Amino acid sequence: MPHEVFHYRTLQEVQNRAEELSAFLPLSEDTGALFSPLTAGAFTAANRIVFQPMEGSDGTADGAPGEYTVRRYRRFALAGPGIIWFEAVATLPRVRASAHQLWLHADNVDLFRRLTDGIREISLRENGYAPVIIMQATNSGRYAKPQGTPAPLIAYRCPPLEDQPLPQECVVSDDDLRRFEEAYEQTARLCQQAGFDGMDVKCCHRYLACELLSAYTRPGPYGGSFENRTRFLKNCYRAARAGIGSQTPFFLTSRLNAYDGFSWPWGFGVREETGLAPDWTEAIRLIRELRAEFDIPLINITMGNPYRNPHVNRPYDHGNYVPDEHPLTGVGRMMAGISQIRQAVEIPVVGSAFSYLRQFSANLASGMVREGRCDAAGFGRMAFAYPDFIRDLREKGQMDPRKCCVTCGGCAALLRAGRPAGCAVRDREVYTL
Ligand SMILES: Cc1cc2nc3c(=O)[nH]c(=O)nc-3n(C[C@H](O)[C@H](O)[C@H](O)COP(=O)(O)O)c2cc1C
Repeated sequence: MPHEVFHYRTLQEVQNRAEELSAFLPLSEDTGALFSPLTAGAFTAANRIVFQPMEGSDGTADGAPGEYTVRRYRRFALAGPGIIWFEAVATLPRVRASAHQLWLHADNVDLFRRLTDGIREISLRENGYAPVIIMQATNSGRYAKPQGTPAPLIAYRCPPLEDQPLPQECVVSDDDLRRFEEAYEQTARLCQQAGFDGMDVKCCHRYLACELLSAYTRPGPYGGSFENRTRFLKNCYRAARAGIGSQTPFFLTSRLNAYDGFSWPWGFGVREETGLAPDWTEAIRLIRELRAEFDIPLINITMGNPYRNPHVNRPYDHGNYVPDEHPLTGVGRMMAGISQIRQAVEIPVVGSAFSYLRQFSANLASGMVREGRCDAAGFGRMAFAYPDFIRDLREKGQMDPRKCCVTCGGCAALLRAGRPAGCAVRDREVYTL
């Protein structure tokens, strides 16, 4: 069935379409499962709702939270998710994705601290509990744009991602990779000082650590075998652990691409002989190894590339192109993958990409949690459009369709333009396209 836009008025209509498409959407009428506490490692989150990392491109030139950053997290704190998975924060100025991406360093750590203190205070006052706050530490790699223009740092030359083949000089050397790894030590130390509960060594959406997972064609210690392709990620963890010490409740984790959506040898999560069909074997192995060596208390699963196949990452009604798959097929791929990974690993899993279902997204999230297919549900675009859906769910058991994200692509377009990102439909007094 070709792409079509959202038009469902009832949960039954969603269910019917999903069945026609054989899309895996375990829906639940009752959304109560989202409101039980989640214990993972040493922390307990008050509920199973996660606000996903959503970059706002609204930091100061120096990388500190700006006025709009503070406003975004104030809205999030008021809303009351159990976990705020704080957006991508650069580990070095050279690896920022925009001139306004956050970048944590010794001279601005106090401003981050003020922000995390503020989030906890607001949520405690408003909701009676503080969220767990996890910071996503990033190296933007291929998508580095520290001055606002592309300055790619790539793991290997990858034709499906390049309109014009990038020159060999863009391929980062092994020595560069070692320097990038070391930066995680200082970032982790500062992240802890800044009051975060844990740090995500970002490994998704084809930023550097993620891209290395598919570096089958790269020669040397960072390419080829599984061991080599995961070396950078694990070395970043080792550096981070050195920065925080071992006797601390502060934890490390990752947001991980289980599948890139490109065929072998250009994508992680596929096999040579199976084209674009996902294969979760390596993702499962990697999670188990991260658990064994770094004691990660949970993992956040995502897929796709926001630049080349955004419909895999965030199924939508409107974007830069019309995908050749139905949006519910995309949501179903995500749910099936998360579910299969959850069955195979012993740690809590945060699921992604619920927002497409608008007022029914909580029904899908709750169904996934209720059936043990994930342990918490992450909301990205919905958190921008309608953060207080949590209150509506708690008080009325349902979300208001008039306030939901309409998957128009506006927030992503703002981000791509290097402008402060937010919802240009439901929060348009502040954000305009
Ligand atoms: C404007 C924008 C900014 C984003 N920033 C990040 C980010 O900093 N880190 C990350 O891992 N994902 C980021 N994402 C992806 C989202 O976290 C999420 O995976 C995606 O929107 C799909 O979830 P949803 O259907 O709930 O929106 C971003 C997406 C958008 C649209």
